[in-house]
Amino acid sequence: MKISVIGTGYVGLVTGSIFAHLGHDVICMDIDEEKVKKLKSGDPVIYEPGLEDLLKEGIEKDKLHFTTDIKEAVEKSDFIFICVGTPPKKSWETDLSYVKKVAEDIGKHINGYKIVVTKSTVPVGTGNMVKEIIRSYNKNNHPFDIVSNPEFLREGSAVEDTLHPDRIVVGSDNKEAAQKVADLYRGIDAPVLIVKLYSSELIKYASNSFLATKISFINSIADICERTGADVEEVAKGMGMDKRIGYHFLKAGLGYGGSCFPKDVDSILYTSMQLNEPFIILEATRKVNENRPVRFVERMEKMMGELRDKKIAIWGLAFKPNTDDMREAVSIKIIKLLKEKGSNVIAYDPVAMNNAKNVYLKDVDIEYVNSPMEAVKDVDALVLVTEWDEFKRIDMKEVIELMKGKFLFDGRNLYNPEEMEKIGFSYVSIGR
Ligand code: UGA
Repeated sequence: MKISVIGTGYVGLVTGSIFAHLGHDVICMDIDEEKVKKLKSGDPVIYEPGLEDLLKEGIEKDKLHFTTDIKEAVEKSDFIFICVGTPPKKSWETDLSYVKKVAEDIGKHINGYKIVVTKSTVPVGTGNMVKEIIRSYNKNNHPFDIVSNPEFLREGSAVEDTLHPDRIVVGSDNKEAAQKVADLYRGIDAPVLIVKLYSSELIKYASNSFLATKISFINSIADICERTGADVEEVAKGMGMDKRIGYHFLKAGLGYGGSCFPKDVDSILYTSMQLNEPFIILEATRKVNENRPVRFVERMEKMMGELRDKKIAIWGLAFKPNTDDMREAVSIKIIKLLKEKGSNVIAYDPVAMNNAKNVYLKDVDIEYVNSPMEAVKDVDALVLVTEWDEFKRIDMKEVIELMKGKFLFDGRNLYNPEEMEKIGFSYVSIGR
């Protein structure tokens, strides 16, 4: 099939590469010329395990093309996947301006029957908005259908998740069009759920906000564990053994970050406010998450006393391991809180340091170093923010020898408390 993918962020690029891998002819379109140039040469631009190989395979087999020309992308394809960003506005409303612009362009250049698929996470009702925009620019009344096909991939395992999804959700008011989109995934072994357009849009938000709630729930349990002496890891295990609850997303820590959960929770809260149906549970989910870094730094202060002029090493800046993405990363909040208190921060992350330096922590005075061991030299405390595998393998006996103080704050429960105490750390973790 001839497919074009508009927008080459995480979702668009992975989707396009996988469709090419499945044998379709794919054109990926992006307005960013520099990015398109790099992609054409096989450079995936973002760090995502497995993506570079897929990209190279698609280019070599002549199945994957890149362009900045939306007209070409629309005219040469039967399926158009909208994968542009849907960032949050300050009001929590979703900014749909990029989606609207793509719809406008599709309307202008449509030259025959097309199936237009929204893959970006969009609030319920957006499919119909896209339909109306295309219709208003579609001078020759070319036929088209609108389908919603939300993406459930996680950053850091995007390729793996897309090749082995739990389900493929396709929503449309035209079942035939939905089936055609489902057929594009032939070769991927996963159940397909075909639903109404609006249901599909909502499934995405309902799933993400439910998972976010699971995280805030276990983090609240962790707070109770800290007060009582229970161990949140044991509690989560015991809960997870109940099949109705499941083990996943019960990992207590510093809270959820990234480009999806915070934004999607806000977006559905905005929708619920607009509908005058307050989503009380989700308001609490958000509040609990906001407070995680604050509570953590308060615990640091309680243990170490005044944080002014203390030298503090941060291990991990990315919002989670296996990605260089810093959007809504907890590290940003923790570092800013430490700086407000007058601490000196030394940071290390295997891949996210450039993003931190140049964008997300641009104006913050941080010393960046090239190895975890360099970061801990003469520091008063070490704070583990992102649970990269690299940190798991380090000999912590060597770490404590390099440090001046003995405080180890483990924001992700990566280490074993008994072992750390035996080594000599004043060890603080979450909910145990
Ligand atoms: C999330 C969803 O998991 C994907 O299914 C969805 O497609 C994606 O959003 C999206 O909407 O595009 P992602 O944000 O990439 O994926 O990352 P997750 O692995 O879900 O982690 C999100 C945050 O939750 C991270 O900060 C992580 O550290 C935190 N987390 C996750 C916990 O604190 N505890 C857990 O048990 C799990």
